[in-house]
Amino acid sequence: MCSYEEAPELKIDFFRLIHLKKILEIENESFNNPYDEAIFKAFSSKHPENFLVALFNKDVVGYIMFDKLYNSGIIVSIAVSQRFRRKGIGGLLLTKALGKLKELGAKEVLLQVEVTNNSAISFYKKFGFNVEAILPNYYGIKRDAYLMKLKLP
Ligand SMILES: CC(C)(COP(=O)(O)OP(=O)(O)OC[C@H]1O[C@@H](n2cnc3c(N)ncnc32)[C@H](O)[C@@H]1OP(=O)(O)O)[C@@H](O)C(=O)NCCC(=O)NCCS
Repeated sequence: MCSYEEAPELKIDFFRLIHLKKILEIENESFNNPYDEAIFKAFSSKHPENFLVALFNKDVVGYIMFDKLYNSGIIVSIAVSQRFRRKGIGGLLLTKALGKLKELGAKEVLLQVEVTNNSAISFYKKFGFNVEAILPNYYGIKRDAYLMKLKLP
């Protein structure tokens, strides 16, 4: 089977405002408490180079936002359109973000994920992230998060 990493139809690009409508659709189908338009716009104007989209035949099928604070990279958010999952697109977005964070001098990468989000936890573990701590009530009452960390080589 051809992985999407090799598929000519798939391209990783920087976010532009024309992508926003589709990103909001992906966000709404992916999260119980989705980010709204204002958050995406604010992030893209502050960190345009840290906001990537995956385009399949020019349609947005996923996105990642990341940031750097001191020596630590941070995965702010990642989501892939439901019908495009398990095809390597999330992995491609994460790999690009990790590469960029390494270039920027990050020594480690941190993220938070809800403890019940088994697919995302498996996804991050596949890329070498480990659970560092539990953050009680991080997403609301009785909605804990794991703090996960990857040491960059
Ligand atoms: C997490 C997410 C971005 C992964 O995107 P994806 O494109 O499906 O990921 P990939 O296809 O690159 O998966 C890479 C590997 O991660 C693991 N993985 C991904 N989804 C998984 C699942 N549902 N169950 C178990 N393992 C999973 C697998 O090891 C997979 O490799 P494999 O398919 O060869 O077995 C996607 O599931 C998603 O958008 N989830 C909703 C939003 C979300 O929870 N974001 C994270 C918030 S912290």
